[in-house]
Amino acid sequence: METSLPLTIDRTIALPLHLQLAEQFRAAVLDGRLQSGHRLPSTRDLARQMSVSRAVTQAAYDQLHAEGWIAGRTGAGTFVTDVVPLQPAVRRRTPHREDPDKRLLTLRPGIPYIAPTPDPGWRRAWREVSAQAPPRGYDDAAGLPTLRAALAEHVGRVRGIACGPENVLVTNGTVHGLRLLLTATSAPGGRIAIEDPGYLNAVTAARDHQLEIVDVPVDEDGLRVDALTDDVDAVYVTPSHQYPLGFRLPVARRNELVRWARRTGALLIEDDYDSEFRYDVAPLPALAQLDLDRVVHLGTLSKTLSPALRLGWMVASEPMIDRLTTFRAETGDWPGWPMQAALLAMLRDGYLDQAVRRGRRLYADRRTLTCAALAPYGEVIGQDAGLHITLLLPNHTDDQSLATQARAAGVVIAPLSEYRRTTPGPPGLVIGYATPTTPDLHRALKILTEVLSRR
Ligand SMILES: Cc1ncc(COP(=O)(O)O)c(C=O)c1O
Repeated sequence: METSLPLTIDRTIALPLHLQLAEQFRAAVLDGRLQSGHRLPSTRDLARQMSVSRAVTQAAYDQLHAEGWIAGRTGAGTFVTDVVPLQPAVRRRTPHREDPDKRLLTLRPGIPYIAPTPDPGWRRAWREVSAQAPPRGYDDAAGLPTLRAALAEHVGRVRGIACGPENVLVTNGTVHGLRLLLTATSAPGGRIAIEDPGYLNAVTAARDHQLEIVDVPVDEDGLRVDALTDDVDAVYVTPSHQYPLGFRLPVARRNELVRWARRTGALLIEDDYDSEFRYDVAPLPALAQLDLDRVVHLGTLSKTLSPALRLGWMVASEPMIDRLTTFRAETGDWPGWPMQAALLAMLRDGYLDQAVRRGRRLYADRRTLTCAALAPYGEVIGQDAGLHITLLLPNHTDDQSLATQARAAGVVIAPLSEYRRTTPGPPGLVIGYATPTTPDLHRALKILTEVLSRR
């Protein structure tokens, strides 16, 4: 079979004409347009067709011959050999699957309310970032020095932690900070105590680092310090709003925990998520305020601005920050300059404080609404702080099945049993009231209470 490939010659480029022709034949073999056994036109015909001299077509064929793409049979013409053409890598398209929960109302905990249009403070910060040229080199691996100073001032003011920029490391959020800490400081086989029920991402991080997880029970004051064993290397704890039960660790127990850590030498990892939001109750001191040598404090913007920012901070002793910074400098794993520069502007302009104040007002009302709607169906706990409450249900209740029924009715919620590991406790539902609009919250609660009354 003779082929008639569409060939072109470009006299304006430096590539010699015979190489231009050879290249097009090669490409045709590679993509399958020319196959083994196909006959090429004679050098004479091709020269005429392309308006080039026969020397050009002959040189092209000589080149292809030398490379093994074509072979000539006397009297029969020139054919494509049985080279196995390299098939260009086929890109397999994974069909884009829409999140099945996207169309449902969500009361899963963890996500704040994000207004659909950005406000002036937000826009001002990003305008400022866009007007600056990026820094020339690799930034400080601990974070922008100016941002570290602003964060030190921030945590001093809102969390009472006496610290300077040397105690601050900018992170991509709590989980990032926790994983960095575990990577740089813990050896496989080490033991870490984690609240049970507790934060699943912390459990996964510890498992990924091959740590032995020691489940610590929680009572109505949060982590039970009396249940800690002296042989653990670290304790991960959520004192501001125990996740997911929502209790706040009282001052006496905070002191007890820090005393215990001083005696055993264990490191306390304080996940300070939700600390910004408390309702009608006094603030409690951060563990890091009590002893920065024994505590690594993790803060996040995920609850105040948006989890999509992937931005947070770690506050710890200077030697710890130095150690993690050295480690980070080798991995290049720190938040990009635009994010850091924007956060700096937001802190400086008081935008973060303003967002927290606005959030407190909004969430206080929603919390009241949620507690009132759910109180008839069980015991509401954890309502003094944060963005979710937990509804404890009678012992025989199957909370997974309730969550499935709620989803079928259009509302996503988290069953409490999802967060339990080995410590037994009542079933329940963990209900985030922050994410939807207020009308959607009303709708979701109506659906949920209908599901609960069917029990
Ligand atoms: C207990 C707890 N800590 C921290 C976070 C925030 O994590 P990050 O800062 O990595 O977004 C969450 C989010 O849901 C959480 O539930």
